Amino acid sequence: MFDFLKQLIHEFKKKYIWKKIPKCYYEIKCPYTYQAYDKQNKCWWIIYTQPLKKITNLYQTEFGKKPLSFFDCGCASGQLLVQAEEMGMTVNGIDITEYKSLHPNVTVGSILDYNKPINHDLVYCNEVLTCVKEEEIPAVLDKFKSTKMLVAVHLTTEDDEKAGGTSYREASGPRVIKSQKWWLDCFNKNGFNAKFHEKSGLFIAKPRQRE
Ligand SMILES: C[S@@+](CC[C@H](N)C(=O)[O-])C[C@H]1O[C@@H](n2cnc3c(N)ncnc32)[C@H](O)[C@@H]1O
Repeated sequence: MFDFLKQLIHEFKKKYIWKKIPKCYYEIKCPYTYQAYDKQNKCWWIIYTQPLKKITNLYQTEFGKKPLSFFDCGCASGQLLVQAEEMGMTVNGIDITEYKSLHPNVTVGSILDYNKPINHDLVYCNEVLTCVKEEEIPAVLDKFKSTKMLVAVHLTTEDDEKAGGTSYREASGPRVIKSQKWWLDCFNKNGFNAKFHEKSGLFIAKPRQRE
């Protein structure tokens, strides 16, 4: 009986509460949509993320040139890889969830188990850093030390407040939701020089060993 009730509550939350969460998340952090073409299935998709151009412009501002290679950590189907390749970059990505892949260079698995070199000019983490355990974050950041720049977008406590509380933490397991300052300290403690780019709402972190 108890299990039945728990299941009922779970189903209710899934249907009426959790469904709203991605919308809140994207409204706050990624209020952009664009379309991507799935060549395999010959159809267009609507995608909510940061426009790739915006991310590469940040790189160009820092280094005075365009990135030549791009690694999307948590790349989903690889939609950004397709775009980045079209922009002339060498691309790779990994995602723990198996999607219908749009690009052959998508690896399925956790970034924590990824053992191939990641020495790309630009790494992008859309929400992934909040999805691993807090104690695993240094190991993830360590994988990006041979790159030139990491751009990260994820929820912080500031966003959580705007969205009215702790709902994000429950959305898909416990999340590491911390303040902007906590994240900057975290990047800095783990070998990066980091800043928060207010205008875009993105963290920019450059490995100290590359500077
Ligand atoms: C918000 S989506 C970002 C998709 C894509 N990068 C974009 O910006 O359009 C975050 C992705 O991170 C993936 N993810 C979460 N934890 C991960 C991990 N430990 N390793 C690899 N991918 C992970 C999720 O499966 C999800 O597809």
